[in-house]
Amino acid sequence: RMCKIVLAPFNGGQPHGGVDLGAEYMMKHGLKQQIEEILKWNTEVLDPLNGVNLEQLKAEADEQEKETKPKIKRADFVSMANKKIYETCKNDISKGEFQLTLGGDHSIAIGSIAGLLSRYPDAGIIWIDAHADINTVNTTESGNLHGCPVSFLANMDRKDWPKSFDWVPENLLATDKIAYIGLRDVDAGEKKILRDNNIKAFSMYHVDRYGINSVVEQAIAHVSKGNKDCPIMISYDVDAIDPEASVQCTGTKVDYGLNNREALFLCERICETGNVVALDVVEVNPSLGADETEILKTVAMGCSIVRCTLGETLL
Ligand code: ARG
Ligand code: MN
Ligand code: MN
Ligand code: MN
Repeated sequence: RMCKIVLAPFNGGQPHGGVDLGAEYMMKHGLKQQIEEILKWNTEVLDPLNGVNLEQLKAEADEQEKETKPKIKRADFVSMANKKIYETCKNDISKGEFQLTLGGDHSIAIGSIAGLLSRYPDAGIIWIDAHADINTVNTTESGNLHGCPVSFLANMDRKDWPKSFDWVPENLLATDKIAYIGLRDVDAGEKKILRDNNIKAFSMYHVDRYGINSVVEQAIAHVSKGNKDCPIMISYDVDAIDPEASVQCTGTKVDYGLNNREALFLCERICETGNVVALDVVEVNPSLGADETEILKTVAMGCSIVRCTLGETLL
């Protein structure tokens, strides 16, 4: 089996530097070797943003936006990067190959999920996050596009998108093909969107109430819509995990998250369906670590998420 590792060292969807280093740190931690040696997968690295001067483009965007002060920050930059990620996922990965995208901030899921949907239009998405990331260009309070990828994938409020966001995924994400797990910091506008569209969302309340096993089962069933072979993608924002448990190095930390076993169990269980075709691991920000231990814990957790999703088991 082939795992295509898509590097997405992009930080333009949010304000902090350093989240672009997430992919590199996970790779330096030995992720590629782990996938090959422990899990016996073949790997190939794809680098869609190679040759793009990300630092310079970000600086230019920020400089320009100091004057124009647009509501949506760096739309042009986010659009450009995601189009490249999308095209790589669409053109350089075939059916049957696993798509592993390493962020970067969560805006990169616009490209990775759009790419996945080009191969599997009916794929279900399980979105693991403290946040719903479903703000539209009209509801966002921060203007940061890492808080908006789901609304872009579902084509919400399309007529109000910034002109500079100049491409649309061919295959849109239907709002009944996504399920969330781990939510605990959802903006008022997002709550309304979730309610109005009847979107399946399991917050930390549901994890406490029903247990992670039941929640994962319900999420799988919901996105699969009765198709026992329904392809499933996990989009994993590491801020879903409790900061005290392991994930301190992320840009929008929220207390009272998943514990380490819950965080990995859901990957193990979704893998066990045999239907998982893609994974994003995003929002690992090594620059936000207070010390080496914090960085190591967060990066190691990112790598564990990948291994558990690709089939590592305890026995
Ligand atoms: N809801 C907030 C916003 O829209 C926070 C989003 C955090 N997203 C993330 N991918 N960490 O700005
Ligand atoms: Mn988040
Ligand atoms: Mn908030
Ligand atoms: Mn997120």
